[in-house]
Amino acid sequence: MDTWDRKNILVKKKIIVTGGAGYIGSHTVVELIAAGFTPIIIDNLCNTSVKNIKGVEKITGEEIKWYNRDCTNTEEINKIFSEEKIEGVIHFAAYKSVEESVQNPQKYYDNNIGSLEVILESMRENNVKNIIFSSSCTVYGSPDILPVTENSPFKKAESPYGETKQICEGMLKVDSCNSVSLRYFNPIGSHSSALIGDCSSDKANNLIPIITEVAIGKRKKITVFGDDYNTPDGTCIRDYIHVVDLAKSHVLAMNLLINKEGKHDFNIGTGIGVSVIDAIKAFEKTNNLSINYSIGPRRRGDIEQIYANGNLVKEKLGWEAKETLYQAMKSAWEWEKNK
Ligand code: UD1
Repeated sequence: MDTWDRKNILVKKKIIVTGGAGYIGSHTVVELIAAGFTPIIIDNLCNTSVKNIKGVEKITGEEIKWYNRDCTNTEEINKIFSEEKIEGVIHFAAYKSVEESVQNPQKYYDNNIGSLEVILESMRENNVKNIIFSSSCTVYGSPDILPVTENSPFKKAESPYGETKQICEGMLKVDSCNSVSLRYFNPIGSHSSALIGDCSSDKANNLIPIITEVAIGKRKKITVFGDDYNTPDGTCIRDYIHVVDLAKSHVLAMNLLINKEGKHDFNIGTGIGVSVIDAIKAFEKTNNLSINYSIGPRRRGDIEQIYANGNLVKEKLGWEAKETLYQAMKSAWEWEKNK
């Protein structure tokens, strides 16, 4: 619901977006503005670029307020929370490389868990009630039953990265806040303007960025990690969700918390399982390109298949994926050419 001040001027609700200069964060900032919120970004740019903030400003025509701060710094975060009168927080700021988390788990525990601790403390201190948390389908580990529902059990995490997501969800459950954990499946694609996207310095190790790097000539070929899984074409199955659809789910989740107290978990996926070979073919067909690939051994820790049951989020938030795999593949290619 809108708030009006004494001169009858619409007061837009302020939302802190930690990690708002990142891949999913920047797309969410665009959607928050479109929905009438005033997002305020906190980002230390440790794994993204100011290019995304400039991109958001170009897309929306609005100047974005942002703080270059580390979310594990209690004093600084608390200061921002006490100065800005905010309605809620969307907490994206976290490390996200599964591989790196295996090599350096402490870095992941310190940053991913430490930053949520600081955010929750600052919320309590400043009487901020609402938080949306960036979770992941990785919390389900290797599921026994597909598609996964929000009630599917948390199996043993496949990586320290996955473990941090499980722990953070647990922290939200015992805190006094209102919270929504959004369990993302595999986010792909970019805004249609190609002005924002994944600017992370990590070596690309997700499927679609690797495909686009092959397409542009940065890599000679992509290795498909195993074709001997128990799936129709033998390659792993995932649920690839367009990042713009994903971004929109955060706005709906924030409205849910603003209007009603509670704690919720939602799967954010399409419900459609796509194999690695299907994804390569979809990219080739959409962009009229040929991708050089070969079959290699399985990747350690890979889950055979996972895709979402989206009934709950449709019922409670009225959210479902709208963009197609083809739109995602087209925008992923546009971003690679433009970045
Ligand atoms: C995993 C996590 C996800 C997390 C993401 C961050 C699960 C189920 N998902 O995604 O929560 O946010 O890491 O990085 O734990 N592939 C190839 N060749 C390649 C690269 C990938 O065949 O060069 C295949 C993989 O084996 C997999 C699929 O492509 O089957 C997708 O891989 P990727 O994009 O890395 O994402 P996940 O591992 O599913």
